[in-house]
Amino acid sequence: MTIQEMRQAVCDWSKQSYAEKLFAGTSGNLSVYDKEQDVMVITPTSVPYETITPEDMVVLRLDGEILEGNYRPSSEWRMHAAVYQAKPEVSAIIHTHSPYATAFAVNNRGIPTILIEMVPFLGGDVPLAKFAVPGTRAVGDEAVKVLAERTGCLLANHGVLAIGASLEQAHIRAVYIEDAAKICSIAMANGPIVTMSEADIAAMKHG
Ligand code: 13P
Repeated sequence: MTIQEMRQAVCDWSKQSYAEKLFAGTSGNLSVYDKEQDVMVITPTSVPYETITPEDMVVLRLDGEILEGNYRPSSEWRMHAAVYQAKPEVSAIIHTHSPYATAFAVNNRGIPTILIEMVPFLGGDVPLAKFAVPGTRAVGDEAVKVLAERTGCLLANHGVLAIGASLEQAHIRAVYIEDAAKICSIAMANGPIVTMSEADIAAMKHG
């Protein structure tokens, strides 16, 4: 991917995610990382998604060195960098504040495996990462601790993190996290929920 293609992809998926209400206001952030070039392209901090353009994206190294950018990078760039450094298979990250999933993060609980889609798309349940001060690398370090064999997690009192080999993949995972949280909330209001058994989850994973 060229840097221009990376800028375009981050811009397009940020607008799409905003339109889907995965975040409100200027919250949330997305990035892609090209290992070969050692280049991350990330959304700028606090720029409205309605007017954002590919040229507004910030191009930087994982140590924070800015290569190109008219704006400051997302305040969570260290979180993105920490995940890319710890998980080389990851090339795209989306951080949302989608409301149903973030409500679970506020309850300080993960989302149990209640739906079949959670197995192929998310690897099972959505775990909760411990709270860390926003803007610090610790947010990413705490997420990495719970992301083994998972493609997304909740950040305590903060939001959602989804990872993937592409933004398309990270985005659909963020969508499924919100969907699972919404359905789980409705089901819990209806009565006791039944989570999928470990045997059924294993059967789905391994046939
Ligand atoms: P930025 O606008 O700096 O990306 O921050 C938004 C956010 O969601 C912080 O968690």
